[in-house]
Amino acid sequence: MNFELHALDLASVANEKCDALVLLLTDGFKPGKDKISSLIAQLTKAGDLPSKPGRLLSLYRPVQTAAPRLILVSVGDGISKHVRSGIQAALAGLKTLATKHIAVCFTGLPTDASLRSAVQALADGTYSYTTTKSKPEPRTLQKALLVCSNAASLKSTFDRAVAIVAGVEVAKEWANRPANHATPTLLGKAAQALARHPKIHCEVLGPKEVAKLGMGSFMAVAQGSDEPLRFIVLQYHGAAKSKAPTVLVGKGITFDSGGISIKPAAEMDEMKFDMSGAASVLGVFATLAKLKPSINVVGLIPSCENLLNGRAVKPGDVVTSMSGQTIEILNTDAEGRLVLCDALTYAERFKPAAVVDIATLTGACVVALGNVRSGMFCADDAMADALIAAGETAQDLCWHMPLDDEYGEGLKTHFADVANVAGRAGGAISAAKFLQRFTEKKYPWAHLDIAGTAWKSGAAKGATGRPVGLLVEYLLAHGT
Ligand code: BES
Ligand code: MN
Ligand code: ZN
Repeated sequence: MNFELHALDLASVANEKCDALVLLLTDGFKPGKDKISSLIAQLTKAGDLPSKPGRLLSLYRPVQTAAPRLILVSVGDGISKHVRSGIQAALAGLKTLATKHIAVCFTGLPTDASLRSAVQALADGTYSYTTTKSKPEPRTLQKALLVCSNAASLKSTFDRAVAIVAGVEVAKEWANRPANHATPTLLGKAAQALARHPKIHCEVLGPKEVAKLGMGSFMAVAQGSDEPLRFIVLQYHGAAKSKAPTVLVGKGITFDSGGISIKPAAEMDEMKFDMSGAASVLGVFATLAKLKPSINVVGLIPSCENLLNGRAVKPGDVVTSMSGQTIEILNTDAEGRLVLCDALTYAERFKPAAVVDIATLTGACVVALGNVRSGMFCADDAMADALIAAGETAQDLCWHMPLDDEYGEGLKTHFADVANVAGRAGGAISAAKFLQRFTEKKYPWAHLDIAGTAWKSGAAKGATGRPVGLLVEYLLAHGT
């Protein structure tokens, strides 16, 4: 889908040839002398369009516009969340109409935030998953023209927002694919396809290479499945080689059955989304390929299935991680931290400026924060503040969670250096404390628990593409 941003006045918008013209009406609109203005003036006077955000009036073949459909939507004061709900309401009415070309016109001056939410709402509202349908119904919208009089000053925000939604859609695609259509091998191929870009390099390691590296913890998870593991190393080179990269580590469990500590059957299908962290790394690289910023980024994806066969790892087994620390696997369903810890050790070789891991790590994080904010764990306050700010800019929010050492007490065991689970209480935090052991004194590190934000359940089941926006904004603000 193509986005364009133009500065046109209402008189020219009226002549725009498109299937639907959506006018976002802001409170206090000052009508000019053009035909659309006088239409708006009349209907406001008659009280036919309440100023409540999301209320709309649809007109068919009005004399005022070249477009056959004119939708007037109230967006209240024009702040980003009202723009989002206005566009959602307009798209709901257009859904069945096979709209190919839409123009969305702001009557007020959009801010960076409200322009971004318009781009995001247009992309989200028209997204369609097709890969495993026999009669695919792809998105019909091909072109979205955004119109506002301050277009010139919003150009860089617009370009960034458009590149981010492209990355979000890459993340959605891979996360939405069922586990038999998104195996570790297929994720490796997707990463290699990204490396067709001149600034991107990719290397995919298999079981032999991973064994040689001594990733005993990652291998313990993978051994319960016949599907071979992959360790994906993506590199984006936009700056001098001497510049320390930021490393992103994405959890790539393509299906999490829980292993021998098997999960209940209800909603187990949703564990195909357990590679959403990996999908977000692929999405970020797709965005970097478009924006070509002068930064260096490494993406690491430890990917395997968490299944159970005769060779599967058992509760109580002790394994040796790449760091040398031994781990007692008390619960095979706490597998995310087991694949991530070896990737975090591997990250050391890049002498990173910072490392961020992204993982659908704990049900406890869903209990704590629901599906609004991702959990963010970081002992470095400057880095934490940067991640919070990036989330706000991208409208992809996170929340700073604690990392007091007391939360890690429960990971102590008599039989290894550390256990992979503590008690139920504070489960998202003890998971983060486990990961922290593999990063301390090595590099600044943050962990994003996206268990509640990576996908939606219920009728609207599907991946969200989060936190691609947050990560891209963080990289762009801190890479230069
Ligand atoms: N992938 C799950 C976490 C998860 C569960 C994400 C539900 C989203 C929704 C993870 O591997 C897991 O199973 N975690 C366990 C940890 C527990 C055994 C300490 C959990 O959260 O129950
Ligand atoms: Mn699990
Ligand atoms: Zn998992």
